[in-house]
Amino acid sequence: MAYDAAVPAGPALSPRLAAIAALVPDGKVVADIGTDHALVPAALVASGRIARAIASDRSPGPLAAARRTLALHDVDEKISLRLGEGLTTIDEGEVDVIIIAGMGPDSVRSILGAGSELLPSIERLVLQPNGDVEPVRRWLVRRGWDLVDERLVEERGRFYTVVAAEAAVGGHRRYSSADWRLGPILRSRRGPLFERFVAAELRRCEAALAELRRAPIPKRHRLVALANARELLLGELVGSASASRNC
Ligand SMILES: C[S@@+](CC[C@H](N)C(=O)[O-])C[C@H]1O[C@@H](n2cnc3c(N)ncnc32)[C@H](O)[C@@H]1O
Repeated sequence: MAYDAAVPAGPALSPRLAAIAALVPDGKVVADIGTDHALVPAALVASGRIARAIASDRSPGPLAAARRTLALHDVDEKISLRLGEGLTTIDEGEVDVIIIAGMGPDSVRSILGAGSELLPSIERLVLQPNGDVEPVRRWLVRRGWDLVDERLVEERGRFYTVVAAEAAVGGHRRYSSADWRLGPILRSRRGPLFERFVAAELRRCEAALAELRRAPIPKRHRLVALANARELLLGELVGSASASRNC
């Protein structure tokens, strides 16, 4: 019997965390900012896909959870734990890839915005904003990043999008409103999960419209924005239906 049989090979990842890990290229040095449990860097190192990582968080509680994960999976010597705000814990040239996941789009943008000196040395950003992804896509492209990959997953009835970005070479790509909202790469790949996602977005949009219409004085600009979003989502579903009929 092998003596290391009791040491788990690495943590199991939920579909959301597995999608984040899938967008990290093999062999890179990774910093997971806002790591909490550190499951993603632990899984990447334990599987041998990467040799080293940094797991960073601004709060001691999550970092204690990270320490437990690393010890449990025997990767504590290969993953450096850092306590501090955003990207301030990383030195220039120390990592190739930055992961920021499980936070709202404003937090993701503010962490990236505050770390602008570090970003030119980064090869790839892997971002999973909770909620609205459009502001993060727009932020990236405005600052010279290209959207190079996207993953969509459903976990416990919620949809999550993971975006990978790399420094853009050449000029800006042109994106439509539907690309910004739903993801240019997800839209080009489509598939049943994407259609369920668009249908769920449409239901959410229609519920918000119905609620707004019941208000004594509905805010006009919000009504217009929701009506436009509804049109966009309906168009996307109709487009998907006619594309599958033509297959
Ligand atoms: C909801 S958890 C997400 C954990 C993990 N990234 C995931 O996707 O499952 C958010 C974590 O980010 C940390 N965090 C939030 N804002 C941060 C910041 N500006 N800098 C560093 N850590 C931050 C929190 O302390 C918390 O541990």
